[in-house]
Amino acid sequence: MLSQRPPMGWNSWNTFGWAINEQVVRETADKIVELGLKDCGYEYVVIDDCWSLRKRDENGRIVPDPEKFPSGMKALADYVHSKGLKFGMYSCAGTRTCAGFPGSFDYEFIDAKTFAEWGVDFLKYDFCYKPHLANGPILYNRMGMALKASGREILFSACNWGSDEVEKWIRSTGAHMYRSTGDINDSFDSFKNIAMSQVQKLAYSGPGCYNDIDMLICGMHGKGNVANGGCSDIEYRTHFALWCLFQSPLMIGSDLSKMDEFNLELLKNKELIAINQDEEARPPMMVRGGDRPVFFKHLENGEYAIAYFNFTDRDGYNEIEFYDIGLTVAAGYGFKLREIISGEEVEGVVTEHFGCHVPAHDCKIFRGTLVQK
Ligand code: GLA
Repeated sequence: MLSQRPPMGWNSWNTFGWAINEQVVRETADKIVELGLKDCGYEYVVIDDCWSLRKRDENGRIVPDPEKFPSGMKALADYVHSKGLKFGMYSCAGTRTCAGFPGSFDYEFIDAKTFAEWGVDFLKYDFCYKPHLANGPILYNRMGMALKASGREILFSACNWGSDEVEKWIRSTGAHMYRSTGDINDSFDSFKNIAMSQVQKLAYSGPGCYNDIDMLICGMHGKGNVANGGCSDIEYRTHFALWCLFQSPLMIGSDLSKMDEFNLELLKNKELIAINQDEEARPPMMVRGGDRPVFFKHLENGEYAIAYFNFTDRDGYNEIEFYDIGLTVAAGYGFKLREIISGEEVEGVVTEHFGCHVPAHDCKIFRGTLVQK
């Protein structure tokens, strides 16, 4: 089944926006392999908006812009496949894409066939220029069926920014992931607000159809199409940890030819990725809210994660009482924990409560087992 675990890959929008072309896609595919990202599970290379001509051809077929994609999409898909990766493209449920290129409204079956012929493995499907009276669930369902009829297995990535209570119906349309918020930009407030807006909705996210809280901004450093001041490395780490904990698809949005060492290692962090790809895919429970939230999450093999975040501008101490997760003293159990970013073991078995120092905008993620005292 597609999307058994949150899909992982790269998407052109955050950095390249309009300036996408086949050279960028080829170089990105090369880099995903060279930098060891493929070995960590990143597999989809996705072209976002702005890849086609403004007009369809005389047969109603969508046409790649020959200046940006002189070799054509089939050749590009073949190249991506030759690297052992998968190829993704973008269209829209409305009459035009958000940037004004042809959308798939009323052309769903033709477009899905065209994508399949090109060798597309993933389709991001946006929501701009949708006629007011057209109904979101029907439009996504139409493309869901068109992709199934296309003759190729294509991962369906819906993107209606959380409108119409999308989490309640999107799984029924055949979608494998769905954007649930407005667009991210490269700033601390943007990723923090996006993540926190979804806490109560994560229970809808799971194998087969994951809540996508947007492409990653790690390592963008204030450059690119969604620039907005940038983040510190610690903030990028907090961003990635939230995306992993919330089991969002992990779509890298930065320019891989300019990746710095810190953010590359972050995106390859096996411990964080393991939480994202955890087989049980259970939503985290928010034990404490506000600016210093703490989450508790069941993981596979009887393990657990306890994650402490500090969204304030001051360093501080975060603590939870274990009775707030249902573990009272009478149970006679405590946790044996390890902080996964530093690798440090917590001494002994912690019972009743557990806290830690968390610097401003940082996080600490503990993983461990429940043991008898
Ligand atoms: C919308 C989507 C973005 C991106 C742009 C492209 O805003 O939410 O992720 O695809 O369209 O125009």
